[in-house]
Amino acid sequence: MVLLHTSTVLVLLLLLVSVMAVMHAVATAPSTGHDGDESALLDFKAKVSSHSGALASWSQNSSASYCSWEGVMCGRKHPWRVVALDLPSRGLAGTISPAIGNLTILRTLNLSFNALHGEIPQSIGSLRRLRYLDLGDNSLTGEIPSNISRCTSLQVMFIGHNQGLQGNIPAKIGNMPMLRVLDLSNNSITGTIPASLGNLSRLVDLTLAINHLEGSIPQGIGNNPHLQYLQLSINHLSGVLPPSLYNLSSPENFRGREHSAWTTPTRFWNNPS
Ligand SMILES: *[C@@H]1O[C@H](CO)[C@@H](O)[C@H](O)[C@H]1NC(C)=O
Ligand SMILES: *[C@@H]1O[C@H](CO)[C@@H](O)[C@H](O)[C@H]1NC(C)=O
Ligand SMILES: *[C@@H]1O[C@H](CO)[C@@H](O)[C@H](O)[C@H]1NC(C)=O
Ligand SMILES: *[C@@H]1O[C@H](CO)[C@@H](O)[C@H](O)[C@H]1NC(C)=O
Ligand SMILES: *[C@@H]1O[C@H](CO)[C@@H](O)[C@H](O)[C@H]1NC(C)=O
Ligand SMILES: *[C@@H]1O[C@H](CO)[C@@H](O)[C@H](O)[C@H]1NC(C)=O
Ligand SMILES: *[C@@H]1O[C@H](CO)[C@@H](O)[C@H](O)[C@H]1NC(C)=O
Repeated sequence: MVLLHTSTVLVLLLLLVSVMAVMHAVATAPSTGHDGDESALLDFKAKVSSHSGALASWSQNSSASYCSWEGVMCGRKHPWRVVALDLPSRGLAGTISPAIGNLTILRTLNLSFNALHGEIPQSIGSLRRLRYLDLGDNSLTGEIPSNISRCTSLQVMFIGHNQGLQGNIPAKIGNMPMLRVLDLSNNSITGTIPASLGNLSRLVDLTLAINHLEGSIPQGIGNNPHLQYLQLSINHLSGVLPPSLYNLSSPENFRGREHSAWTTPTRFWNNPS
């Protein structure tokens, strides 16, 4: 009797231990997916130093999933995966967590018009499904990570108006087949315009104004069949305008945000030389 009782207790104990092991595995194992996206969001919040209340709803809370947090949208096909992080003009200060790269099915990342500083994390290259990226109007510094070229679904790359962004335009950006809008204006970008940008066959809007770019405008850029908006003013470009550019239907137009200082038709040659 006593023996039986002991073994029952043992069996129960074993059961309990294995249930706990399963629970532990569920809680810690996936780094992507359900728990991975939540922990990436929490890490994003932890690196944001102030947010004027915008991230107040971002807390682990049994009554609401992270899919209902402000600015977070989850997918229909993947109900526990974050597909959009849309937080423009939310008074966000602090840095962009590298954990953002763990939101691997993200399609939209819009953090524009905030006060984020620090570098754009290299891990952004893990976002293979990203279509719309807007980090404009912040205080980001460092260089544009060449890893960004791994975001091969990207259609819109807006990283303008972060006056401290330095370094060259990564030549690999020319390998992004879906890119329609590339705006890197009003930064401190140096070097030449990579010839590879002529390979962006879907490019409609190329805005590189107000930087420290030098050298000539690559011939290939004007051969682009869809290019409609080209803004290169206030740089140190030299040489002649490639003849192919004269065929642009409306090169003086500037579509996008209003920054009236350079939307006038002095478009190409506000460049000394
Ligand atoms: C992001 O993913 C990596 C690799 O899977 C993992 O090591 C890391 O803990 C994750 N970060 C967060 C904040 O979830
Ligand atoms: C839980 O989330 C809901 C919805 O976002 C919110 O109204 C509520 O205040 C939260 N509760 C706690 C304890 O954070
Ligand atoms: C570029 O991104 C990949 C994938 O996230 C990562 O493995 C690699 O380390 C990154 N490159 C650099 C230079 O950080
Ligand atoms: C990001 O949000 C701002 C403010 O709502 C909007 O003007 C901008 O077009 C958005 N960017 C993208 C790439 O959709
Ligand atoms: C350049 O960007 C800063 C913000 O980073 C903005 O205040 C300024 O108006 C911009 N300049 C132009 C000409 O757009
Ligand atoms: C443009 O693409 C073609 C074909 O992939 C490649 O051979 C060429 O080197 C590229 N040009 C530049 C300037 O990157
Ligand atoms: C401009 O377009 C016309 C008509 O499509 C074409 O004949 C001409 O070769 C083009 N010029 C240049 C420099 O591309």
